[in-house]
Amino acid sequence: MSPSAVTAILEQHQALGAVLRSFRLQVERTRHSGTPPDFGTLRAMLFYLDEVPAQLHHAKESTYLFPRLRERCPPLRPVLDRLEAEHTRGEIAIRELERALLAFEVMGEPRRAAFEAAAERYVSTYIGHMEVEEDYVIPVALDCLTASDWAELDEAFSVDRDPAERDIAEACRELLRRVLFQGSLPSFCR
Ligand SMILES: [Fe+2]
Ligand SMILES: [Fe+2]
Repeated sequence: MSPSAVTAILEQHQALGAVLRSFRLQVERTRHSGTPPDFGTLRAMLFYLDEVPAQLHHAKESTYLFPRLRERCPPLRPVLDRLEAEHTRGEIAIRELERALLAFEVMGEPRRAAFEAAAERYVSTYIGHMEVEEDYVIPVALDCLTASDWAELDEAFSVDRDPAERDIAEACRELLRRVLFQGSLPSFCR
């Protein structure tokens, strides 16, 4: 059985991936039809993509998982450097994407291409980041971290340890239900 920290990371990746792919699909559909997108839904998706990583996901990877891996598995350090840099860059990239979306909304068609390019860059970078974590970092972590490391990580990745985090997680699930699944959530989001 996987440690609960790994389950939490993979479930968050599935939810983030679902939002990223749905965001990309909506942008592509309106590009082909030449119609304006549903700006409210795209804004809500970007809010989700900002809120979850900052509060529950990247923050915990950078604070708890990566430092322990640096200690236990030095050859992984260059990959962790790259992933950390992507966490930091992601915070800037989402502001730029939110601004590009706002520019498209208020300025119209002349700003569509810049928004679409920023959206594709953001989605593909983010999906690539999660793939490296899933295909490379997590298997190495399962190999080289100890049972006591996992006990600490399981605790750190549990939202139940902190009422404020639990509230954020519940609010994000509600947002996901609203923007993506219109009511019912798949099991990885519960
Ligand atoms: Fe990450
Ligand atoms: Fe991640």
